[in-house]
Amino acid sequence: MSDPLREDLASIPRYVPGKAIPDAVKISSNEVPYGPLPGVVEAITEAAENVHRYPDLGVVELRGVLAERLGLPVERIVTGTGSVALIGHLMQAIARPGSEVVYSWRSFEAYPIAATVAGLKSVQVPNTPDHRHDIDAMLAAVTPATRAIVICSPNNPTGPAVTADELDRVFAAVPEDVLVVIDEAYREFVTDPACPNAVERYASRRNAVVFRTFSKAWGLAGLRVGYMVARPDVADAVSRCVIPFAVNTAAQRAALAALRAEGEMRRRVALVTSERKRTVTAAREFVPDVPDTQANFFWLPLGERAVEFAAHCEARSILVRPFAGDGVRVTIGLPEENDAVLEALRAFIEA
Ligand SMILES: Cc1ncc(COP(=O)(O)O)c(C=O)c1O
Repeated sequence: MSDPLREDLASIPRYVPGKAIPDAVKISSNEVPYGPLPGVVEAITEAAENVHRYPDLGVVELRGVLAERLGLPVERIVTGTGSVALIGHLMQAIARPGSEVVYSWRSFEAYPIAATVAGLKSVQVPNTPDHRHDIDAMLAAVTPATRAIVICSPNNPTGPAVTADELDRVFAAVPEDVLVVIDEAYREFVTDPACPNAVERYASRRNAVVFRTFSKAWGLAGLRVGYMVARPDVADAVSRCVIPFAVNTAAQRAALAALRAEGEMRRRVALVTSERKRTVTAAREFVPDVPDTQANFFWLPLGERAVEFAAHCEARSILVRPFAGDGVRVTIGLPEENDAVLEALRAFIEA
């Protein structure tokens, strides 16, 4: 009897969520530690009155506000249940037999999953020794089978963002029928002026696709809402892959409320980036090769000791995210949480 299941699904690595242990310091999932933005809980409470109704299928108000903020026509914006869902939908929209997608490795763990599920071949290009995208090698990996090149900026889990010079080179080098996909989940945390806002700089390029999310700086990880900016036909194709009514009413209302609290979001992001500077500087005393980070996390390249360090942290009720044999990603938390992980690191290195 033949098996109805696809053989290749069994080999897909599973997405590993950050652990949840009550009362532990949770700095494993790149969340912002300050709770929902002002107005968000009220918006969700109000939305709760209407959960017997389907949400607005077209996400009209939220997409309209986003379009106005970005200065783009609304048909160029697609929303989804987190940008991770939209990444999957884009891959579905471009997959044809034999198609390839180029991305750096190590990068966001959802890329290989989304690519395989969609039926795309992943072409993973190793990062440079300082944990950045190797732009030249990525460009060299583009072939006539390539449908998209994914740039994760800042790169999860290693931290560096790509510069305008690097992205300019990508757009200059790849043919227009290859999508340049820029994942800006952590854009709000970027402080290096050399690293561009991809929507502002590249939205006029026909092959530019940019992903953004409300999960990180905007504090809505639990509600699952993200968006994509692309040219209208690409946006239309991706929107056909989105499950109907994907973004629920609470998420739509909460995202609108969060956007109204932009000043507070920026204030919180400034706290994170100042803590980032302090924490990374201190961490480098123990692990000198911590790479630059433009996100709300940093990378400890501990190699074979990665899992051991995560266990050492867990024994102290601190949850970080290990990548076996490679390194550990640590989210910037509250000052006392950052102090706790620095102390754990000191004890680990000096033991
Ligand atoms: C680089 C990157 N892109 C996208 C996402 C997806 O975020 P969400 O699906 O919550 O919008 C994440 C989440 O960790 C991420 O790190």
